[in-house]
Amino acid sequence: MKRYHLTTFGCQMNEHDSEHMKGMLESLGYEEAHERAEADLILFNTCSIRESADSRFTAHLGEAKRLKREEPERIVGVGGCWAQSVKEEVFERFPFVDVAFGPGQVHKLAEFLTSESLSAQGYFEFEGFTGHLPARRARPYQGWLQISVGCNCACSYCIVPSTRGREVSRPTTELIAEAQAMAADGVKEVTLLGQNVNSYGRDLRPTRTSFAELLAMIDAIDGIERVRYTSPHPKDMREDVIRAHAELPSVCEHIHLPLQSGSSRILKAMRRTYDRQRYMDRVALIREYVPDAAITTDIIVGFPGETEDDFKQTLEVAEEVGYDGAFTFVFSARRGTEAAGITEGLVPHRVKVGRMERLVELVQRRAHERAQRFVGRTLEVLVEGPSRTDPEKLRGRTRHNKVVNFGGLAAPGELTMVDIAAASSQTLSGEESLLARACR
Ligand code: 5AD
Ligand code: SF4
Repeated sequence: MKRYHLTTFGCQMNEHDSEHMKGMLESLGYEEAHERAEADLILFNTCSIRESADSRFTAHLGEAKRLKREEPERIVGVGGCWAQSVKEEVFERFPFVDVAFGPGQVHKLAEFLTSESLSAQGYFEFEGFTGHLPARRARPYQGWLQISVGCNCACSYCIVPSTRGREVSRPTTELIAEAQAMAADGVKEVTLLGQNVNSYGRDLRPTRTSFAELLAMIDAIDGIERVRYTSPHPKDMREDVIRAHAELPSVCEHIHLPLQSGSSRILKAMRRTYDRQRYMDRVALIREYVPDAAITTDIIVGFPGETEDDFKQTLEVAEEVGYDGAFTFVFSARRGTEAAGITEGLVPHRVKVGRMERLVELVQRRAHERAQRFVGRTLEVLVEGPSRTDPEKLRGRTRHNKVVNFGGLAAPGELTMVDIAAASSQTLSGEESLLARACR
């Protein structure tokens, strides 16, 4: 039997795509190898969101080159956003690569593997949803549902519109059928995926389904206990979606609302199409409907032209919102993006790093403060396995998407109740509640 090894970089969309790549390979008779050196097919699913993502991946490619030299009949394949962003250049820069394909061309990998052709091939059309391919889920109780591909936004820093193409929504009936099949398969938590989930359905004809309507349809499926989604865009975050968090039992009390910057001037240069006020209005609406909701975010520091005053506004927003968590990034110029062409007002590296440190300190302090609201409460936890820090303990996630390490007897995939005893900025800890144990 032939064996494959797949390494995934990047976001949840890539994790989703990789699960479908694995499903497709297994339907072709391949089996997974645990070590790259044991594989006949070495694959990478790449990301290009920041420069650091590129360089991490190219170091791995070096190992593939060495392994291919040892056994030239091995196949090396590179898929995903980085491959898309450099296209045919892959073969010039890395002549040992046999097949390269963008995120919309995962299905072509099967075609390549089953063809007689030995020449290198590149596939870069925006064509298909990986969601159509069979999947092999990393965790049987958690599933991704790809509701759309591509992105119609024009954020000036972002490479994604060029790597994933224009936005196309998958038909609602197809999504419902897929979610029902997942539930029948034992999936309890579904994460809806799209580059901008709030604009789901705007391109569907003849009948459009809004994102809020889609949430209600998924919520109605028996067996699906938790629904999450990523990522929304603040410009399209409507009241009906926020209300869904309050009204639909399975929609979790967590909203990831990417801020990027707290300065309206920088938001404009980023082409985010909302300003600080509009963002804060969204936050106020969330707090009104779901006061306990966890709000997390993404923030970029050091965008070209960002002054100390702009940065202070980002700090102010972070202070005011009190995020439960935030991903913070230093601006990185990406090929072909509008922001990469800005030559004025570039922020020196030293300044970027200093701002980053100040932001992280504030975010962590606020997250720590916010997390204290959970202490003394009993929260529902979906068990994921043993704790990473203490194998005697279990690890799981609350509906707020907080990681909990706890003592208890529940099995992975089970929903249990945990009495929360302590909270840090990142994790909660506690003990499985006696009632939950007694009911077992
Ligand atoms: N530089 C730094 N961070 C970026 N992100 C996207 N593009 C860039 C870039 N060029 C961040 C944004 C986005 C997250 C996924 O990555 O914050 O929300
Ligand atoms: Fe995901 Fe963006 Fe990376 Fe592509 S470039 S894998 S869409 S994070």
